[in-house]
Amino acid sequence: MKNKIMINIKESIINDIYNIFNLYKINIIKKKIILRESKLFGDYKIDGIFNILKNISNKDILLNKIIEKIKKNKFIEKVILINNFINIYLSNEYIENNILNMLCNKFNINKKINTNTIVIDYSSPNMAKELHIGHIRSTFIGDSISNILKFIGNKVIKVSHIGDWGINFGMIIYEFMINGFNEYSDISIYDIEKLYIKSRIKYLNDKNFNKNSNIIFKKLQDKNTYITNIWNKIIKISIMNILRIYKIMNISLKLNNIIGESYYQKFIPEIIDDLTNKNILKEYNGSKIIFLKKFKNKENKIMGIILQKKDGTYLYSSTEIASIKYRLNILKANKIIYYVDSRQSDHIKFSYEISKIAGYIPKNSYIEHHIFGMILNKDNKPFKTRDGDLLKLIDIIKEVKYKIKKDLKYKIKCKRKINNIVNNLSIGSIKYFELSKNRFNNYIFKIDNIISINKNTFFYIQYTYIRICSLINKYKIKNKKNISDLKVEFKIYNKYERDLAINIINFEEKIILSGNNGLPNILCDYIYMISTKFSIFYEKCKILETNTINSKLNLIILTSKIIKISLNLLGIKTLNKI
Ligand code: ARG
Repeated sequence: MKNKIMINIKESIINDIYNIFNLYKINIIKKKIILRESKLFGDYKIDGIFNILKNISNKDILLNKIIEKIKKNKFIEKVILINNFINIYLSNEYIENNILNMLCNKFNINKKINTNTIVIDYSSPNMAKELHIGHIRSTFIGDSISNILKFIGNKVIKVSHIGDWGINFGMIIYEFMINGFNEYSDISIYDIEKLYIKSRIKYLNDKNFNKNSNIIFKKLQDKNTYITNIWNKIIKISIMNILRIYKIMNISLKLNNIIGESYYQKFIPEIIDDLTNKNILKEYNGSKIIFLKKFKNKENKIMGIILQKKDGTYLYSSTEIASIKYRLNILKANKIIYYVDSRQSDHIKFSYEISKIAGYIPKNSYIEHHIFGMILNKDNKPFKTRDGDLLKLIDIIKEVKYKIKKDLKYKIKCKRKINNIVNNLSIGSIKYFELSKNRFNNYIFKIDNIISINKNTFFYIQYTYIRICSLINKYKIKNKKNISDLKVEFKIYNKYERDLAINIINFEEKIILSGNNGLPNILCDYIYMISTKFSIFYEKCKILETNTINSKLNLIILTSKIIKISLNLLGIKTLNKI
């Protein structure tokens, strides 16, 4: 079958309207004309027009012109005006052609317009600790948005900017030594974390401990062999543990995506020199500091950012600047997206500002900090933030698995099979639970909600997917046919399949919206919508018993493909059957 070149109907309607305004010499902002999906009348309704027309004298003429112009589009069936909205009915032909295109595996993604090189900084946990609930948002959202941005055409460089440097390592290495451990000791991440928690408390309360930790960190910075070997040991165990959880959680980050703070240390002395020569960095009480005129500190004075302490050690901001410079200049990214806790937004803002003043930001490059709300416990309070007190990711997985297994045990007898199924369902539902939330909002974390089968949950989507697979299977067995032998055709015969089809053809729009705004929940809402539309279609039409079975099968095969691709982009594997 030959592909038809399809126009983007939404875009072309907006252009039509825009051009008419232009013709009448009325200046408007294109973005103000919005095409929404219509629930009551037609397929789309146009929003924003009446606001623009309000102050125009010949508004009736203009409105008529707009409607006439839209009507001329051959893919539009009908245009009607109801309650200050222009309602648009698409022709079946438009929907059918689009579905046919998608059936030929062309998902209409115009990759040529998404050509950024983007570094995505996500997950980025601190070492000497296990992954916990506080890492969920950054890790899951960052990973899925990386997949989506790549899928729509960008070059994506995924980076886990691990916290493997800084004074914390002075403390923990010192505590390590006090407890008689060295680089050869057989020690687990669990024990390392315990030492780390202990060392933090001592650092805050014990002057001597504090002093010695600082000295040790300075030695680490100065590449002392003994200290470096211990540091290496701690980092190695931590990274191994992180990679293990990434793998369990189907997070795409591998060893080569881990570029932590320690990596950038070698660039810092040169940056300090450069900033000093440019007269940006000043010496103040022995420390090296930059004053940012644009920002005020708590005392309403000019903001000062220390890059190097009196004892010669560098700070978190120095590393950040080196990483920004590296990503934009060496890796040649034109954009950095941070999935980092909102409490670090000042830090990122200031580091960017310093990099700008220093001339490290090439033209047309920029950064975006995608913040997220808090995860709350069942009492509606934030999970405690003190290190070590947080719910570990591995324990969340264990509990979800346990609960799912308890439900399935009696239904599935084969042990290997059940483990695989439980695994997939657990990881999928934990991730989907996070990804289906709008990242700007806070939400309550409850295991029972994760494994719920209601509404927009992984279980519901997975269930729909399995239903489609089994339907297709039934067809194959009954007709002794392969689905690859199906004729590529699609026609709309009733409103249920029209409803499903019109949602399916939104794939490109939704995926781009989701990727470019860093909002995986848009994609989740989309596949949830498709799943509900499929369920209605499935209940109302006896798909396998109709004489239009070929066309209907094509539609549901496409439905399953879209669900699978979307879930995979979200970092979730699908099961074909249970
Ligand atoms: N390691 C930091 C933390 O756990 C997050 C790092 C985020 N990325 C960055 N480029 N600063 O708080």
